[in-house]
Amino acid sequence: MRVVNVSLGDRSYPIHIGPGLLATLGRECARLKLGTRCAVITDTNVGKRCAKTALRSLTRAGFAPVLITVPAGETAKSLKNVQTCYDRLAAHRLERKSFIVALGGGVVGDLAGFVAATYLRGIDFVQVPTTLLAQVDSSVGGKVGVNLKAGKNLVGAFYQPRLVLADLTTLATLPEREFRAGLAEVIKYGIIYDAKLFARLERDLPRRRRRQTQPLAEVVARCCAIKAEVVGQDETESGLRAILNFGHTIGHAIENISGYGKYLHGEAISIGQVAAAELSAAQSGLPQRDVARIENLFRAAGLPVTMKLNPAARKKIFAAMRLDKKVSGGEIKFVLARKIGRVVWGQRVAEAAVNAALDKVSR
Ligand SMILES: NC(=O)c1ccc[n+]([C@@H]2O[C@H](COP(=O)([O-])OP(=O)(O)OC[C@H]3O[C@@H](n4cnc5c(N)ncnc54)[C@H](O)[C@@H]3O)[C@@H](O)[C@H]2O)c1
Ligand SMILES: [Zn+2]
Repeated sequence: MRVVNVSLGDRSYPIHIGPGLLATLGRECARLKLGTRCAVITDTNVGKRCAKTALRSLTRAGFAPVLITVPAGETAKSLKNVQTCYDRLAAHRLERKSFIVALGGGVVGDLAGFVAATYLRGIDFVQVPTTLLAQVDSSVGGKVGVNLKAGKNLVGAFYQPRLVLADLTTLATLPEREFRAGLAEVIKYGIIYDAKLFARLERDLPRRRRRQTQPLAEVVARCCAIKAEVVGQDETESGLRAILNFGHTIGHAIENISGYGKYLHGEAISIGQVAAAELSAAQSGLPQRDVARIENLFRAAGLPVTMKLNPAARKKIFAAMRLDKKVSGGEIKFVLARKIGRVVWGQRVAEAAVNAALDKVSR
């Protein structure tokens, strides 16, 4: 097992990464001296596969868990489900010392984390991420929240878990498309922070795609360490944390205009990162050779790097980018790469330059 620490003073916590960790859940919660009553929040897909092991582990360690299952999919991240969870927690008499376990992908993590942040003004919570995306990204860093009709993640909080347990064995049942989508975030860490990680992915992505747990553990641990370092320096995104949004300004717009569901988040930010790389070549000196390496690696991961973009779709992309909550004072700012492993954030870019980058990813 690998351990990565997120250093945030008295809110610091460890991330455990390895195979078979779900069975250690109860023991680890006991070690943290968490209260007896707890709730495991999961979705229908993950619940079927993992709830039994989680509940057994908690019960054996002396906890009294209640299981709350929400439907699978992005629409579960709703205030309606927050309400459902609150009611179940109250019925099970969870109190200030109680805790919540988020067992699932990013959807469950964001929802359960938000419930934990707000129920009784905040109770402890533990993240047990079961998608690659959740293991390398959403379970670490403390952003929790739900969607409104007006847009994604519009209600939320910064609320750190007490522990993250990334059990690599759970990934065995993850659909191939979801696994590849997670690779888009893995590759992102290479581009924004770690040229060595990027080169290593170039060498052996084919093996990663087969999900062998040994090499996967190293990569997941490295991604978590990068996220932990960034979040440790800038928890609430006043500066550096913005680099995690590389490729996301355009990526979010792509998700938005194509109706959530057509592209998975990882697929949209794959195209978004290739566009951001093109933009970087034009604006911040990213060598054309690096643009090609970036595009090739996303391709090798089985991710889309181009999309159909007629004039109407482009217009919508710009409208969506202006509405993105990362826009402040009406200005769209970009994270741009100088070379693989090094980016700058808060870069103003003219609309014409964005348009030229979109040309390169449209087919
Ligand atoms: N909080 C953050 O910092 C942060 C960062 C990135 C993304 N997010 C959020 O994360 C969400 C996306 O997360 P996701 O990609 O994990 O999606 P998800 O939670 O919807 O999971 C994807 C699908 O895989 C299924 N699944 C999960 N684990 C499985 C397993 N082990 N075996 C079989 N099926 C499994 C789920 O039921 C679901 O159908 C979005 O809502 C996004 O906004 C949050
Ligand atoms: Zn992302």
